[in-house]
Amino acid sequence: MSSKAPAPAGSRITICEVGPRDGFQNEKTFIPTAKKIEIANALLASGLRHMQVTSFVSPRAVPQLADAEEVLTGIDRPEGAWITALVPNLRGAERAAQCRLDAVHTVVSASETHNRKNVNRSIEGSLSEFPAVFERLQAAGIGVEGGIATAFGCPFEGVVPAEQVARIARRYQELGAESVSLGDTTGMATPLTVRAAIRAILAEAPGLDIHLHFHNTRGVGLACVMTGLSEGVTHYDAAVGGLGGCPFAAGATGNICTEDLAYLLQESGYETGVDLDRLIAAALLAQEAIGRDLPGQVIKAGPRLKRHDPELTATAAG
Ligand code: COA
Ligand code: ZN
Repeated sequence: MSSKAPAPAGSRITICEVGPRDGFQNEKTFIPTAKKIEIANALLASGLRHMQVTSFVSPRAVPQLADAEEVLTGIDRPEGAWITALVPNLRGAERAAQCRLDAVHTVVSASETHNRKNVNRSIEGSLSEFPAVFERLQAAGIGVEGGIATAFGCPFEGVVPAEQVARIARRYQELGAESVSLGDTTGMATPLTVRAAIRAILAEAPGLDIHLHFHNTRGVGLACVMTGLSEGVTHYDAAVGGLGGCPFAAGATGNICTEDLAYLLQESGYETGVDLDRLIAAALLAQEAIGRDLPGQVIKAGPRLKRHDPELTATAAG
């Protein structure tokens, strides 16, 4: 197995905000299109530059994201913005090709059962549609990030071998994907499985850029990021407030939280380009729109050096 040098201290780490896609898709109550746009713009204003904004999927499967085209038309595009959307099939690619997008995130699961639940076809069925998907997007000047769901385990089948993930990554590389994104759909990744998957891909598809997409279902999402950094991965997905989850995967819960990830990276000496105070303000806006407390920690505690008024805190007296 090959491995890469750890991400150097002080280097730039990319945070891709996926709340508007992975987060909103799991919300039952429809979030008005204008509110989605307002939240996305607040997130971009905090300095985040990579954002997965929506999905081109069946509006019957995911009614929440039926307004994909409108959201993409409404968002700001600050300098350096890299705007993506999820596409599962050729129909989705055709819709995406009509929009202003920097890249598309395709999706296939590494486990048969989840792929059938998620996109109603076999893994091979998805992979055999991808050449046409890639062709359509490339003709429109849109790059492709190859998404692999259930990359660290499947809620229906259990273990997903690293070699299976690496084989799909290789297929993506052959199709011309710019990168591959390992999706931890139901938070089954652990530091050991993350290391194994990264090393298997480096051996099977050398040169392919690896992105990591963790869910915090079992509380070890940020530990998995630390492993990713030690294996040289510099791109991580996260969702504002810790929103997120796949409606077609039993037991799915939120992504790792963007504010918590930005905080960890900044306090570990990495550059993120994000203003944490403005990011927290965007998270509060999302929390208000969703109407319940979100799982993120930094949204509640604030930055590390936030000062509290001693006058407002009880003094213990015996
Ligand atoms: N966008 C919009 N509509 C789409 C579509 C797309 N990308 N793909 C298919 N459709 C429509 C078809 O036009 C057809 O509509 P009609 O009945 O009005 O003619 C209908 O959906 C069924 O098409 P079909 O190709 O038979 O799809 P399917 O029923 O096998 O479902 C998917 C396949 C991929 C469209 C569906 O499973 C899906 O949208 N999955 C996405 C799941 C998801 O977002 N998961 C979370 C992210 S990982
Ligand atoms: Zn996800």
